[in-house]
Amino acid sequence: MRLGVVGAGVIGQLRAQSIRENPATELVAVFDTSSAAAARGVGGSNARAVGSLQQFMDIDMDAVVVSSPPHVHEEACIQALERGRHLLCEKPLSNTVEGCRRIVDKAIEMNRVLAVGFNLRYYPAIKFVKDTIDSGRIGQLDHLRVFGGHEGLPKFRIDWQYKAPESGGGAMMDVGVHMTDVARYLLGEITEVSGVMTETVWNVPGSEDNAMAVFRSPGGVSAIYQATWTEWKGYKFYVEAYGSLGMVRGAYAPMQNMIITQDRPGGARKTRWNMYPEIIVREKLKTWHSTALLSFAGELRDFLQMTSGNMNVPLADGYAGLRSVEIAAAVRESSEKHQVVKLSALGRMKAIHG
Ligand SMILES: NC(=O)c1ccc[n+]([C@@H]2O[C@H](COP(=O)([O-])OP(=O)(O)OC[C@H]3O[C@@H](n4cnc5c(N)ncnc54)[C@H](O)[C@@H]3O)[C@@H](O)[C@H]2O)c1
Repeated sequence: MRLGVVGAGVIGQLRAQSIRENPATELVAVFDTSSAAAARGVGGSNARAVGSLQQFMDIDMDAVVVSSPPHVHEEACIQALERGRHLLCEKPLSNTVEGCRRIVDKAIEMNRVLAVGFNLRYYPAIKFVKDTIDSGRIGQLDHLRVFGGHEGLPKFRIDWQYKAPESGGGAMMDVGVHMTDVARYLLGEITEVSGVMTETVWNVPGSEDNAMAVFRSPGGVSAIYQATWTEWKGYKFYVEAYGSLGMVRGAYAPMQNMIITQDRPGGARKTRWNMYPEIIVREKLKTWHSTALLSFAGELRDFLQMTSGNMNVPLADGYAGLRSVEIAAAVRESSEKHQVVKLSALGRMKAIHG
């Protein structure tokens, strides 16, 4: 498969590397508004570095990876789909709900794969949580707790990362959107949202510092959610799943799991930890980029599966991208109106046909 990358910043460089390193894929073009970034993305391959979207779209390719800032995703996504290319877009799919819907609708109209870069699904600690729930080891799932945050504005290099007109919001659209997706991935679907947001610490209009919410699945299982830009201890995310026979926790950074099991509610408990020393050592040498790169390689392999009609993979699809942004908007609406916001179930996108 021949792929091109739009946006070759921190994430786009890693996306381009994952394409260059996969024997089943070829990097044919990199577009960035910075010619230096585009050239870096090419990384010694035969790909072309180009400086305009038009030039990029005119190059023959099968699929596009979009890793530019969120407010410019839509233009590149729509053009790629209109040219009949499959698409893997970074999170958030767009900075607005309407933008996400237009991208999803275009993918359906064009019968192309639309995947979204919710790469935490590929982090070993999150995979362990998913597998543990699915195996029944913690019994019947009762509820989840999900958390994602960091210390806010000092973390950002560029305005689009936190100013609402570009980012689409605050903590929820940044690390929060990943945790919304993890919650939905584990619950199956989210159709009810109630929450509160605050905007009192950083005072960036439209960009919440904190969002605290409860999500519910159609079957009535809940997730308690917090996305924050006031986590003074530094970047962290975790998910905890509680069931009738125990609990399982997946956390990062560092990558870690804890699982507690019991033979009956209140019975003798066993606790076990996964500490992932090889990941901790590798990150000391090669930073968090090495963990992200492995997750991008996994996403790319499953993207190829999706383009051959197999949707039975962990890779997030367009509906996951849309629902995570709808949920951020729903928490905002719920906070303003003091009401529960209901959403109809989306499920999984259908495999492409023909
Ligand atoms: N999956 C993850 O874990 C993860 C982590 C961080 C960021 N992201 C997402 O990845 C995307 C990129 O984030 P980043 O941290 O690499 O940002 P970045 O600022 O490092 O890179 C963005 C690149 O896009 C280029 N660019 C700007 N406008 C463009 C346009 N109109 N067309 C093409 N290129 C353009 C910039 O020159 C820059 O090189 C964002 O959507 C972000 O939310 C995902």
